[in-house]
Amino acid sequence: MVEEKIVADQSSARPVALITGASRGIGQSSAVAMAEAGFDIVGFSQSGDSGNSETCRLVNLAGGAYVTHKVNVAVESDVRSAFRSLLTANGRRLHAVVVSAGITSDGLAATMSADRFDSVIAVNLRGTFLVCREAIKAMRKTGGAIVLLSSTSGVSGQAGQVNYSASKGGVNAMTQALAKEVAGLGIRVNAVAPGFTETDMFRRMDVKARNGLIQHIPLQRVAKPEEVARAVRFLATEESSYITGQILPVDGGLTA
Ligand SMILES: NC(=O)c1ccc[n+]([C@@H]2O[C@H](COP(=O)([O-])OP(=O)(O)OC[C@H]3O[C@@H](n4cnc5c(N)ncnc54)[C@H](OP(=O)(O)O)[C@@H]3O)[C@@H](O)[C@H]2O)c1
Repeated sequence: MVEEKIVADQSSARPVALITGASRGIGQSSAVAMAEAGFDIVGFSQSGDSGNSETCRLVNLAGGAYVTHKVNVAVESDVRSAFRSLLTANGRRLHAVVVSAGITSDGLAATMSADRFDSVIAVNLRGTFLVCREAIKAMRKTGGAIVLLSSTSGVSGQAGQVNYSASKGGVNAMTQALAKEVAGLGIRVNAVAPGFTETDMFRRMDVKARNGLIQHIPLQRVAKPEEVARAVRFLATEESSYITGQILPVDGGLTA
């Protein structure tokens, strides 16, 4: 089921950025950062109006229009119809796509159910693929930029996160494969690999584990979502016009 909830100004000449996971966290901060850079924003997330009202308010404050679609990125028909309705209703060119929708479901491999493994792969890896596929179709005549949200867990797998680490390792490989595949169409594909970032995803972690992790970060603190969003904005705009196929760590030195 896909619903269009907040109607953007259709006559605007501003470029358009689609952001999945825009209702909260890094996706929301990316929406604001892109609006500050002059973009109107289309947000995909599972939550409807109430889940997106704060993003809408912040994007509007930053001077952008905001449209939200209720989409489960793991469901092929949802992603397809959201793109269809976005492109036909809007009629405007899509300049940038940021894939921030993601979940964790941590546990030790020895006791992890196959369903728990699959649920994370479905959103983080299959969902990323489904969105990228439709994005490439939408941008194949005009070019554009795609930015995927990876993680330091995809660079160096974490105990207790076999599903999440595998999904983000897959995102890294997907970034490189897609970049080579679509460079000739003028589409750049890059990823940002955040370390620990102050969002709901991080706040769900055990407090003791969180405090223990901070000791290993050279900058001695977790990232603010705005700090990750600035890297997203760099890779999603012409500021990075000669960069493709790269995975940019934003991790306070964790992987240095
Ligand atoms: N926070 C960190 O420490 C951290 C570190 C490294 C990488 N990352 C990555 O950065 C990205 C954003 O993370 P975050 O911390 O901002 O997470 P978050 O605060 O938990 O927000 C997750 C976002 O993804 C959306 N989402 C989840 N499942 C979805 C689905 N099936 N279909 C559509 N939307 C869905 C949520 O929308 P709803 O409103 O519908 O729930 C929400 O907007 C993720 O890919 C994550 O893996 C985060």
